[in-house]
Amino acid sequence: MFHPQLDSFPTDFLWGSASAAYQVEGAWDADGKGPSVWDNFVKIPGTTFKSSNGQVAVDHYHRYQEDVALMAEQGLKAYRFSIAWSRIFPTGKGEINQVGLEFYSNLIDELLKHDIEPIVTIYHWDLPQALQDEYQGWESRQIIEDFTTYAKLLFDTYGDRVKYWVSLNEQNVFIMHGYMMGTHPPAVRDPKRMYAANHIANLANASVIKAFREGGYSGKIGPSFAFAPAYPLDCRPENILAYENISDMSAHFWMDVYAFGRYPRIMLKNLEKMGLLPEITESDLALLKEGKPDFMGLNYYQTMTVANNPLDGVGMSGEANYTGEKGSTQESGMPGLFKMVENPYLERTNWDWTIDHQGLRVALRRIASRYDLPVLITENGLGEFDTLETDGTVHDQGRIDYLQHHCLAIQEAISDGVEVMGYCTWSFTDLLSWLNGYQKRYGFVYVDRDETSEKELTRYKKDSFYWYQEVINSNGQSL
Ligand code: BG6
Repeated sequence: MFHPQLDSFPTDFLWGSASAAYQVEGAWDADGKGPSVWDNFVKIPGTTFKSSNGQVAVDHYHRYQEDVALMAEQGLKAYRFSIAWSRIFPTGKGEINQVGLEFYSNLIDELLKHDIEPIVTIYHWDLPQALQDEYQGWESRQIIEDFTTYAKLLFDTYGDRVKYWVSLNEQNVFIMHGYMMGTHPPAVRDPKRMYAANHIANLANASVIKAFREGGYSGKIGPSFAFAPAYPLDCRPENILAYENISDMSAHFWMDVYAFGRYPRIMLKNLEKMGLLPEITESDLALLKEGKPDFMGLNYYQTMTVANNPLDGVGMSGEANYTGEKGSTQESGMPGLFKMVENPYLERTNWDWTIDHQGLRVALRRIASRYDLPVLITENGLGEFDTLETDGTVHDQGRIDYLQHHCLAIQEAISDGVEVMGYCTWSFTDLLSWLNGYQKRYGFVYVDRDETSEKELTRYKKDSFYWYQEVINSNGQSL
């Protein structure tokens, strides 16, 4: 739809930014924190770019006051961060680490002191290693209870101050990478185990949302989903079918469960035929129905374009680009279902991610139309190389252009009728990009470190810092 006059952003729009514990905190074994699966995974040679890890990360654990002061200077209305489960329960359950609880309490107070709304992610991939060792983490139903106990402790401790909760961050990513591609812990490559772990993660997600409702906590809760809307390459019916396949497999398979409490039937039939269907009981289905979210959290970075892939076509084995060497991504797909192809109309980043602001409007529209839920954009941003000039400036015009177009796409979606609660850019400071090291930067604030040296970890405001400051200050009028 074309809008000669765009609607304004709502006055309570949450202009925010985001991070995740493992990517910013560092202090990986400080003050009683237990190890997470990521602490161990990064020690395996060849798992991350230049063996980078989050042991120190950008030292947010010790510098959170400095970072929050920068957020306040920028005028952020909201800050999304995650809690490291093993900082709270060093072994995932049982004894509580009070110092860990206190750290996040202080962070929340610091944010509120500056009128910044905390948005808390309960799980952003750093599973306590002890739970992996004891019962294989997401592959055991025991995790449902432990995850719920952990979440309830957070609701009880911080619920008086936190109004927005994200249950699981990108279940589709940590499950696919962890159990299908083997590129995240626990580095399994087994579709049957992947679908089984995914079902258990769905149950854990629903259980936490149910506990939130039953506990009568005030506020809103929902999962964050990594949604890369699909486009068919063209109108060839075979390519349209490939698009239908990828939509069911990569989007509806997760979001339908969150919003409707059921799996798409085409997926159920296919998984059954392939012998990959997990055990799904009647009580599972009842729980899924009780776990409906207040909003859909949307992590949007790019769209994907697909085409027909014959039965003897390309498989999933293609190497991804974790080096920033443009064009190094290899072809991938699922024989008989779809393959990823280049979209001739879109530019790509140095990591081969398509740059597509209209895709954000499409994502918002698809969520609103299919699920009729408000959307909280919990991540969006540009990961690129940045250069720190000798005078301490960073001219990241590419990031400004990227964010500007995406913000306008949000405004168009709002004008279309989508209820968008807020927008968290990824990320506030530069941080560790899980598999891509420190050179793939996302922040408004440059942190002076790289893969080989932590240097002084000094913070420098990039040009985009001031640009977003003005956007917030004008509630989007300056766009
Ligand atoms: C999302 C994650 O997948 O995308 C973030 O929630 C991550 O944790 C972000 O950093 C960007 O991905 P990457 O691989 O470029 O770090």
